[in-house]
Amino acid sequence: MAAFHIEGENKLNGEARVSAAKNAVLPVMAAALLTAEPVTIERPPRLSDVSHMAGILRDMGCQVEWGERQMRITASNPGGCPKQADVRALRASILVLGPMLARTGSAEVALPGGCAIGNRPIDLHIKGLAQMGAQVECEAGRVTARGRLQGCSIFLDLPSVGATENLMMAACLAKDVTRIENAAREPEVVELARCLNRMGGKVRGAGSSRVEIEGVPALHGADLKIIPDRIEAGTLLCALGAAGGEIVLKNVYAPALSAVIEKLGQMGLSIRSERSRLMASGKVSRPVQLSTGAFPGFPTDLQAPMMALAAMSPGDSLLVESVFENRFMHAQELTRMGANIHIEGRSALVKGGALAGAEVCATDLRAGAALVVAALGARGESVVERAELIDRGYEGLEKKLGRMGAKVTRTQSAEG
Ligand code: UD1
Repeated sequence: MAAFHIEGENKLNGEARVSAAKNAVLPVMAAALLTAEPVTIERPPRLSDVSHMAGILRDMGCQVEWGERQMRITASNPGGCPKQADVRALRASILVLGPMLARTGSAEVALPGGCAIGNRPIDLHIKGLAQMGAQVECEAGRVTARGRLQGCSIFLDLPSVGATENLMMAACLAKDVTRIENAAREPEVVELARCLNRMGGKVRGAGSSRVEIEGVPALHGADLKIIPDRIEAGTLLCALGAAGGEIVLKNVYAPALSAVIEKLGQMGLSIRSERSRLMASGKVSRPVQLSTGAFPGFPTDLQAPMMALAAMSPGDSLLVESVFENRFMHAQELTRMGANIHIEGRSALVKGGALAGAEVCATDLRAGAALVVAALGARGESVVERAELIDRGYEGLEKKLGRMGAKVTRTQSAEG
């Protein structure tokens, strides 16, 4: 197990390069199952979730070579079922179901795990594949799917990111046209569509709530560069808001961050974008009111770091979590640092004030990021335990912050 030791109240000054988006890389890796030719991903982020997905693909008969600057995945003759341990490690493992089924006519995968943030069913993935003609069974913690897929119209009860991606991939090799209504509009969905089209797919409308996919007999290999991680960029902006200072973020796609930039501006940060850079300065000084929502709404993955900021910014803030139930586990740990947070259902009322360093424990990936943000603005030293959860989605977070002047060190305990 790993821990971050953070000495608070050190200003951030300098530059950081944002890595490729975890939530875009994972589905693109799964999409490699759709073709026998190699798919190359440039500069994939070094994250434990990416390693787990690589392990899953290897178990399914793919060759995965992860070099210095690129990852090459070749699915010449996929078959087999991924190990339960890898599948349970990340929820995105369900994304192999659609492409594997479409490519080979059958797929089997354990029910996925991932962050402990409430009940996260996969009913929309399963219903969609069944509508396309698959026989899907869920038994003894496993999902098995069989059959040749036929294009059809699918209405998603919720604009689920994962279900949209899974069905989009499956539909690429299905017969005729598939229409997904009430599709997720997240930038990562648009990125997957772009990559599928680079592989010879025919996906139209990604980024709107109606995506249309015309099936083709086969896809081919491609060299792919993935969009920057908007959640990592947002987290680094929250780190600035906590510590104060002046930073430049390189490799940023600002339009994907509009809601975040708007809210951080309301809290007192000054943020300017120029081509692929963000120039940001200041420290939080005002409260915020926000409700998470599907894109272009405020991203649920940044709710926890924003709560850490709200806890140290003068005034009363209100944060509403509309996407996931039970995604306030960080509140209790923030309280150990002196935060004043009152939770009622899906709302958190946060009374801002000074935070003090403490020993706290990450309960999930973004909760861990929130504790790092809080520690950067707190008086004295903090220890954030279970930092390996942070490694799921942030590439060398302590190094990036350290290069900008934060005092963060990593320790590894015997068990790890
Ligand atoms: C993805 C992101 C995650 C982000 C989330 C919402 C990846 C790898 N992960 O997760 O970081 O927090 O989008 O932006 O891209 N739901 C159902 N049935 C389903 C599927 C989802 O009820 O079959 C519900 C979920 O429980 C949740 C909501 O829909 O309440 C949104 O989930 P979804 O958009 O599917 O999130 P993920 O794709 O799992």
